[in-house]
Amino acid sequence: MSSQKTALITGVNGMDGSHLADFLLNKGYVVYGMERRSSVKNRINTKHLESNDNFHFVIGDMSDSESLRNIVYLSHPDEVYNLAAQSFVGSSWAIPLETSDTNGLGVLRLLNAVKQYQEHNDKVVKFYQASTSEMFGLMEKGGSSANEQTVFLPRSPYGIAKLYAYWMVRNYRESYGLFACNGILFNHESERRGIEFVTRKISDAVARIHLGMQDKLLLGNLEVWRDWGYAPDYVEGMWLMLQQDTPSDYVLATNEAYSLEQFLDCAFKVVGLDWRDYVEQDERYMRPAEVPYLRGNYGLANDKLGWKPKTSFEELVEIMVNNDINLLRKD
Ligand code: GDD
Repeated sequence: MSSQKTALITGVNGMDGSHLADFLLNKGYVVYGMERRSSVKNRINTKHLESNDNFHFVIGDMSDSESLRNIVYLSHPDEVYNLAAQSFVGSSWAIPLETSDTNGLGVLRLLNAVKQYQEHNDKVVKFYQASTSEMFGLMEKGGSSANEQTVFLPRSPYGIAKLYAYWMVRNYRESYGLFACNGILFNHESERRGIEFVTRKISDAVARIHLGMQDKLLLGNLEVWRDWGYAPDYVEGMWLMLQQDTPSDYVLATNEAYSLEQFLDCAFKVVGLDWRDYVEQDERYMRPAEVPYLRGNYGLANDKLGWKPKTSFEELVEIMVNNDINLLRKD
C-alpha cells in the first residue's frame, strides 16, 4: 500500500484553503479540494492547482449531507480540514440563517460523514475544524490574552454558529472517539485575503492611492484591536494538530494586539503617506455589535506542537501592500 497521505480540504478556494493545499502538496499529499458549484468559478487563489496531478477539485456543499458523504467516500482521506464557511463576520447579521447553517450545522453534517466512513472502513480519519477567536468575542482590552480555557462571549451570528460547531467537534471526540481538533485561530491574513476584510481593503486602497487610482478610503469602526498573523504560518499549525497522537484544541495567535490605526499607519508608510489624509469613517461599515479587542496566547501550541508565528506584523503589512501594488501594475 502507498504511504502517500490523502487530505480533503473544504473551502479550498479561500485564503486558508489555498495556502493549506500548497502546504500539503509540498509535503507530498494527494489533496482533494471541495468547492461549491457556481456558474462563475472562484479560483483566484487556486488556479495554479488545476494542472497539479496530485490535486483534485470536487463539488460539494456544507448544506448538502449527501454531497459531503460522497466526497468523503470518494477521497478516502487520512485528514479532513474543514475550512468551508461563511467567513465574513460583517455579513452574518444580514444572512444569519445561512451563516448558522453553513458554519454550524454544516460542520455536524461533515462530522457525521466522517464518522460513518470511519465505521465502514478500518481507518482513522483525523478532523480539523476552523474555529475562531471570534468565539471569545468580548475581551477586556489590555487584559490577559485568551487561551484554551478562556470563557467564550461571542458577539455575532458568525461567532455563535462557530461556537456551536466547536462544541460539536468536542462532543464527537468525547462521544465517539473521533480524532477531531479545534484550531482556535486569531485573525490571520495574506495577499490572498478577500477584498472585504479590513486588512486587504486597506492594502488594496493604499496601492490604488499610491498609483493615483483612488483618493479616499472609507472604513467603519477604527477603535478596534486585532491579533494579526500571517496565514501561511497558521496552516502549518493546522497540520501539526493532526500529526499528534491525541486530539486537542489549540489557540494559534501572535500574542500581540495592534489597533486598526496602527495597521493603517504601517500600511500607508510603505508608500510614504499619512493615513489621516485619506481615511474617512462611514456608518455603512459599522457592525451592530463589535468585538473591540482580541489577543491570543499560543503557549499550548508552542509547548505541544512546537508552533510559533514566524512573520512579524510589519512584514505582514509590507507583503500585502507590495503585492497589491504589483497586481495593479500588472493589470
Ligand atoms: N471588514 C471591515 N471593513 N472591517 C472593518 C472596517 C471595514 O471597512 N472598518 C473597521 N473594521 C473593523 C471590523 O469592525 C472589525 O472589528 C475589524 O475591523 C476586523 O474586521 P475583518 O477584517 O472583517 O475581520 P474580523 O475580525 O471580523 O473576522 C476575521 O477574523 C476572525 C478571527 O477572529 C475573519 O477572518 C473571520 O472569518 C475570523 O473567524
